[in-house]
Amino acid sequence: MSSKVPRILVTGASGLLGRAVIKIFKQKNFDVIGLAFSRAGPGLVKCDLTDHEAVTTLIERERPDFIIHAAAERFPDMVESRYEETCLLNIRTAGHIAAVAYRIGSRIIHISTDYVFDGKSPPYKADAVCNPLSKYGSTKLESEKAVLAVAPNACILRIPVLYGPVERLGESAVTCLLDVLKSKKPQSVSHHDQRCPAHVDDIANILADMVALIMKGANLSGIYQWSGREKMTKYDMILAMSRVFSLPHQHISPSHAASPIRPYDPEMDVSGLTDLGIAHHTKFEDGIKECLARWI
Ligand SMILES: NC(=O)c1ccc[n+]([C@@H]2O[C@H](COP(=O)([O-])OP(=O)(O)OC[C@H]3O[C@@H](n4cnc5c(N)ncnc54)[C@H](OP(=O)(O)O)[C@@H]3O)[C@@H](O)[C@H]2O)c1
Repeated sequence: MSSKVPRILVTGASGLLGRAVIKIFKQKNFDVIGLAFSRAGPGLVKCDLTDHEAVTTLIERERPDFIIHAAAERFPDMVESRYEETCLLNIRTAGHIAAVAYRIGSRIIHISTDYVFDGKSPPYKADAVCNPLSKYGSTKLESEKAVLAVAPNACILRIPVLYGPVERLGESAVTCLLDVLKSKKPQSVSHHDQRCPAHVDDIANILADMVALIMKGANLSGIYQWSGREKMTKYDMILAMSRVFSLPHQHISPSHAASPIRPYDPEMDVSGLTDLGIAHHTKFEDGIKECLARWI
């Protein structure tokens, strides 16, 4: 690949992860184009990705060196209630973007999830058997297959539950816990499912490192995985928030109930990335303190 500044097209640029990718890639002086749909604001290009003709025209016009495909439906209730639309966006659109990318010589990095695993035998290697428990996880597993079927040089990056600077607390399954902590209502929070949360900036930096390595001629393709380096339950996250903001937590009790649609412990093996010298982890208490300060 040439030494010119790479042009990066980011889908889902208005989303939790996409916003961080745009920020970090701009800081690194990449030539970035961000796509969004309902939240396309200043600096973002509006495009309904499920309009495949429009997507083809846009990619052929912009001719990016890389596409970071972060757009997806990931809210479980939306996946349930709008399953057909979710399959179109999460699976068929991912496959379409990958096919166009491959045809014009653009490299795609497709974002997937640890929810492709059932969480019964962690840590999961990248080639471990997948067994998603939820419809969301199934669509993401199918999206990986759709991408790799048409773009053999594609990279998949599986990531864990995310937190970061949110537009509303409910935007992240981690930050929404602050509402629970701040309410005075007695409630129980899961102390069963194990999670390895990641700050969105860490994922964006991992993506930037992957792009930089490919630019240098490294042969990256197939499935890569990142899990945050601290394993915690949601109850542990509540306790961490309570510590950093000196908020009382005695109204919250730990629940040991399992969920049939959430993996118990989907921690992923990260050696595919660390062997390449790629690793970014913000200590949870530091990251959450910075992200949530404006909500206290
Ligand atoms: N958040 C997590 O905890 C988590 C965990 C593991 C994996 N992931 C994966 O990480 C990726 C990014 O997730 P996220 O949390 O950033 O998602 P998000 O905050 O829900 O954002 C979704 C993005 O997709 C865009 N989008 C939705 N429908 C679209 C359409 N028809 N056309 C164009 N764009 C459309 C949205 O644009 P508008 O809002 O402008 O419409 C938004 O930018 C996804 O692949 C997700 O599966 C997320």
